[in-house]
Amino acid sequence: MCYYRVMSKLYIANWKSNKNRKEAQTWIKQFIDEVKPGLAVGKITDKIVVAPPFPFLQDLLAAIDSANLDKYIHLAVQDISPYEAGSYTGAVSAMNLEGFNVKYAIVGHSERRKYFRETSEDVANKVESCMTGEITPVVCVDLPEVEKQAKLIDSKFHSKTIVAYEPVEHIGTGIAQPLDEILDAIKRIKNHFPSSKTIYGGSVNLDNVEAMKQEQAIEGFLVGSTSLKADAFAQLI
Ligand code: PGA
Repeated sequence: MCYYRVMSKLYIANWKSNKNRKEAQTWIKQFIDEVKPGLAVGKITDKIVVAPPFPFLQDLLAAIDSANLDKYIHLAVQDISPYEAGSYTGAVSAMNLEGFNVKYAIVGHSERRKYFRETSEDVANKVESCMTGEITPVVCVDLPEVEKQAKLIDSKFHSKTIVAYEPVEHIGTGIAQPLDEILDAIKRIKNHFPSSKTIYGGSVNLDNVEAMKQEQAIEGFLVGSTSLKADAFAQLI
């Protein structure tokens, strides 16, 4: 028998520094209501990840656990300390995250590189931090930094790393990069990260996601603006 099925994808909601506690609680409740039926009957087979600001991890964890969805909805952080636990005021280490069921950490987002002067060396150290905590790093790159970033990350960690291709000029604009350009960029990224999963981020929305879903090379999505509304993020999946 021969049939075609869109493969499962990874969907990461990157809230950035949006929302207050009440809004975060409302979002997760609504989101669970939206996706629970699909998850229950196996209609949704994708991996779902939510990356809230640190203070909301506990509330989200509690909501996901009490809905018995911890196998399906995972938590991510949007950054992690490049250092181990210790005297680094203001930093959140992998050890601090133990007990929160955090499975992923977004590292090297272009906003961190731009506004917080994060370097590719910092990002490589953050990948090492992730490894100490069994957290999967989601390393964000645009084409200009791919080669350097790949060299700085110990090659033994590449297969445990997800690379998010994020063309800076398409982030937050509402206009994703044309599909052929995304595929071309992913091909180039694969030359440097042959064993890493590759996902795309940059204005993924309900109008453009279907075409991207059909592409095997795009193994998931890092979603900013569209993830801020629970129903929109649920509809993407
Ligand atoms: P966007 O953000 O979906 O709003 O473009 C994506 C990102 O910055 O990861």
